[in-house]
Amino acid sequence: MSSKETRITKAVFPVAGMGTRFLPATKANPKEMLPVVDKPLIQYAAEEAIAAGVDELIFVTSSSKRAIEDHFDKNYEMEAELAAKGKIDLLNLVRDVVPKGVSCVYVRQAEALGLGHAVLCAKSIVGNEPFAVILADDLIDGGNASCMQQMVAAFNEKQCSILGVEKIPIEYSHKYGMISSEEIGDRLSRIKSIIEKPDPADAPSDLAVVGRYILTPRIFGLLETTPRGAGGEIQLTDAIDALLKEEEVLAYQFKGKRYDCGSKLGYLKASIDYALQHPELADDFTEYLKKRFGQNGGRIEDSIKRA
Ligand code: UTP
Repeated sequence: MSSKETRITKAVFPVAGMGTRFLPATKANPKEMLPVVDKPLIQYAAEEAIAAGVDELIFVTSSSKRAIEDHFDKNYEMEAELAAKGKIDLLNLVRDVVPKGVSCVYVRQAEALGLGHAVLCAKSIVGNEPFAVILADDLIDGGNASCMQQMVAAFNEKQCSILGVEKIPIEYSHKYGMISSEEIGDRLSRIKSIIEKPDPADAPSDLAVVGRYILTPRIFGLLETTPRGAGGEIQLTDAIDALLKEEEVLAYQFKGKRYDCGSKLGYLKASIDYALQHPELADDFTEYLKKRFGQNGGRIEDSIKRA
């Protein structure tokens, strides 16, 4: 890497949304603290960023998200208790939530004015450097290399904004930012246009933006002048639309499987798949599913009727 090239060391986690799709669970608990097996969604997101080389985690929170700050803070009482009982494995588990050398910063979004506004709240902490944005409710199992690791590798080569994208069935286009682009390499394309939540008939392609972004700091200036868009919110998509008129913005089709854990169905799918990979649970849980749904290809519908 030449001296002019920059590294991604900061990640912004917008966690100030209301999580209405998960009410009543999210009335007093943040959506990002919902566990998939034994880890909250926000911890998976933090680990993904750290694996990609990030050492400053910036959380954009709201008044009802205290639990997130507590999760990443030291818990003296619990650590002392576990140490006194000699439960060293559990002690390490609790301590390792934030590895050494990684710092956490919190900034409040006073009103939920949209994802674009949430990212803008991090402006003074990020400063004048490119940064990552991770939406914790999009849980991505990247296998050997996390999604953000893959994107940072692409950034190190291209040194421009990059959005994580995946192909979706076009009937769901009204839930995503959708792009049109031209291919420029393996999994990489140059974005030509972006539109927030279009009807399927207006979607420029079947490529949807998911909750992973690497953005240049120019995005902040553009967000400051972005008017309220869809849903009366300041949309990150609108500012990215302005960005790509000034700078190259790429799309990266990540390797891995994404779970939309902001929806109940996606969350359940993630819980099952992660339990089936969990070293402590995999065997017993597989046994349970076999019994529950029949060993030899028994029909799931029959098992449900029997239950
Ligand atoms: P969502 O569109 O999933 O909204 O936000 P939400 O409020 O979290 O959930 P629902 O739709 O009501 O169930 C996408 C991401 O942007 C953050 C959310 O926390 C989530 O990570 N966000 C959204 C903010 O931080 N601030 C906002 O004003 C809006």
